[in-house]
Order: sequence, then C-alpha cells, then structure tokens
Amino acid sequence: KAHKIKIRDVSKDIDKRVQLNGWIHRLRVQKNRAFIVLRDGTGYIQCLLKGDLANAYQTSQLTLESTISISGTIEKLPEGKTAPGGVELLADFYQVYGLAPAGDDSITNKVQENADASLLLDQRHLMLRGETLSAVMKVRAAFLKAIRTVYVEEGLTEVTPPCMVQTQVEGGSTLFSLKYYGEDAYLTQSSQLYLETCLPALGDVYCIQESFRAEKSHTRRHLSEYTHIEAELCFLDFNDLLSHIETLIVKSIDYVLKDPIAGPLVKQLNPSFVAPQLPFKRLEYKDAIKWLNENGILNEDGEDFKFGDDIAEAAERKMTDTIGVPILLTRFPVEIKSFYMKKCSDDPRVTESVDVLMPTVGEITGGSMRIDSVEELLAGFKREKISPEAYYWFIDQRKYGTSPHGGYGLGTERILAWLCNRFTVRDCSLYPRFTGRCKP
Ligand code: 4AD
Ligand code: MG
Repeated sequence: KAHKIKIRDVSKDIDKRVQLNGWIHRLRVQKNRAFIVLRDGTGYIQCLLKGDLANAYQTSQLTLESTISISGTIEKLPEGKTAPGGVELLADFYQVYGLAPAGDDSITNKVQENADASLLLDQRHLMLRGETLSAVMKVRAAFLKAIRTVYVEEGLTEVTPPCMVQTQVEGGSTLFSLKYYGEDAYLTQSSQLYLETCLPALGDVYCIQESFRAEKSHTRRHLSEYTHIEAELCFLDFNDLLSHIETLIVKSIDYVLKDPIAGPLVKQLNPSFVAPQLPFKRLEYKDAIKWLNENGILNEDGEDFKFGDDIAEAAERKMTDTIGVPILLTRFPVEIKSFYMKKCSDDPRVTESVDVLMPTVGEITGGSMRIDSVEELLAGFKREKISPEAYYWFIDQRKYGTSPHGGYGLGTERILAWLCNRFTVRDCSLYPRFTGRCKP
C-alpha cells in the first residue's frame, strides 16, 4: 500500500510510491494521456495518467473540483519540463471520492473570471479554492503567526477581551448595537479599553480579535468586521511607542518573507514588494497639511487644508503614494481624534497620536499615548458628549495606580492588502463583511 502524504512533502519521496488526496484543480484528458493538477491545500502537483488509466471511461467522466485519491510514483522532471515543484506523479491507480458536477452546475460556470464582483462574493466558498485567494489566506496565516512571534519576543501577554460590550471607543456613528438579554449592548469597535485595564495585572498585553464597525461608506479599505491586532504598553513615552510600532511591522514582515510557504507567495502576489526599512519617515500632521497644500491636494470641501481638517482617505492615499515609503503621521489635532488621547505637553492643541500610512493603502495603524489622569479623561468624555457611567472600570484604571501608557490597533486586512498588493481589503478577508454583505 502506498503511503499517504501531503503535496508539500512530495520532494522528500522522489522515486517512491505514494498516495495523494485532493481536488482536481486542472484537467486535460487526451487519448492515452491525461493530466491532472491536484490540489490539497498544501500545494499543487501534476499527475500523469497513461494508457488504460487515461482511456478508462471513469477518466472521461472526471470534472474539475472532484475529489480523488491517487497513487503512483513521484518523478523528478527533467530540466525544461515545467510543472509545479518540478515533480510529477506518474499515476498507477486512482479512486474518486466525490465527483463534482459537470455542465451548467460546473465550477467554471459558477465562478466565471469576468463575473460581477458581487456574484463572485456569493460564491466565496468556491472562490477560496482559487490560486490567488488561497495564496492570500496562506500569507495571512503566516502574518498572524509572525505577529504572535514578535509579541512573544517582546514579552507581551496575549489576552482575549469580550466582543459584546457596552462602551464605544471610536465614535457612536459606527456602532453595531444589539439586545443583550434586554439590555443595550454593542459589538466591539476596539479592545483598547479592556487592554488598558490589563496593564496593572499582566504588564504589556496584546490581542488579535475581531472588531466591528457599521461603516456607511463603501470604500476599498473598510470592512464591517475585521481582524484587529491591538497592543497596550505601559511605562513608555511617545517615542518608545513609535519605535515599538515600526519595529513590530518590520520584524513581522521580515518573518513572513522568510517563511518557506508565505515568502514565495508574497513574491508571486506582489513581485515589486520592497520590505520596509527602519526607521520609518516621521511626519507631523501640521507638516502633512503643508505638504498637501503645496502639492495641490484639496480637502473634502474642495479647498486648501487648514489646521483641524481631517485628512480623508483619498488625500491620505495620494500623499502616501507620492512619498512612496511608510510614514508615521503624528500629532493630530485634539478635535479629530478620540476622547482618550493624551495631549502633547508642548502644544495642547495636538495629541500624542500616530497613524501608520503605507503606500497603496494609506492608514494601517492608529495609536496614541493615553490620558492617564481622571480629570482629563472626564473632560475628554465631555468634549465627545459621552456619558462616563458605563466607563467606571476604565476610569478606575486611572484611579487605582495610574501609569503612563499607550497602544495601537493594526488592521490585519489593511496590512495584508499592502503586503499582497490587493486592490481592496475585501480580498484579504476569508468571508468579507461590508455594507450590504453578510453571506455566505
Ligand atoms: O484607527 P482606529 O479606529 O483605532 C482604534 O480602534 C484604536 N482604539 C486602536 C488602539 O489604539 N488600540 O483603528 C485601528 C486600525 C486602523 O488603522 C485600520 O487599520 C483598522 O484598524 N480599521 C479597519 N480595517 C478595516 N475596516 C474598517 N472599517 C476599519 N476601521 C479601522
Ligand atoms: Mg484611525
């Protein structure tokens, strides 16, 4: 009996007889010869069926996406003959496990390449099997692993905050509300506040958790549910926070590029990708405004930017693409940032805040130092017209042994869109959720 292996391991079994199990990814049946590219989620391999095996009636009935178990000898292909991995399975036996439909219901009819994006999203479960989307998902897995590795190296502890909450973090307008045993509750927008409460118990902490935003706008970088990588650190200053963030990004990308599976996939998806270098360019908000005005980029009202204007997606992207390298955009005005952000000691109009901007995507990370005095925090709630009662536990963090601290959130799908050169974050989510889309 042939021993059962995964396609990723075929090169260890050259000239040996093995059994592979997988799905028919590509198929060409000719007289006396049939070629099957088999896929099992760990790789692709070409299988060659010769003579009777190729001419069998069963072979003529095979379809794309059928599951088969196929046995034979792994052969190294001579130079010049190309197939995935440079090897081929010379089959001597196969068995069909599940025959996929032919005709109207065939996979090629279901997921036609030029179909409307929304029709393809209805078929997301089938689209996932495609080479591009599955490659992005492999890179995603490697990236999340890399992030965890860096956090472990830096001594942060992983926690799992709740998704069902009664407080907002990033503004009431994007909250998803729900009834929680008769009480009002929301799906979390960010786990930041919970992470802050962990500092006195666990020290520096992080989480990788879904965040939810009822974004009204249809953009290429907004999802209703996304995987939010958040960290909170104590006894550091703003500069420490900035260098922590850029180091995290550089190290995690480096691990992905060195990963034997994900590294080559990034090259394939994004051939011109340039690994980011330390340190990132620093740019203050006030200088960004100046830059935008000097470069003729207008604000949302079609006018020159003035201090206090939000730098919206289009302008931000234009600026980042033109500058062409990762940017730490810092010191945003108080009015356009969240209630919890610490003001700069040398200029109370601005905050110790940072967005990381990447070419092609723009903002991938938002972070700040946090207000650590109760009075200032209460003033922040007042400014944002948030009633502080529900936040008693968050206020207690300042009351019972406050500390200087800061943190950030990194959008997984955003950094992947940059890394994998995808036009939209939707291409970096397994089953994307956005306005009007909650299936499959
Ligand atoms: O800038 P945001 O809103 O910051 C926070 O939520 C902070 N409380 C995080 C923290 O300090 N712990 O979101 C952080 C990041 C953004 O930079 C972006 O990458 C991503 O989360 N993000 C989204 N990604 C996809 N779809 C959306 N609707 C997103 N909203 C934010
Ligand atoms: Mg932000």
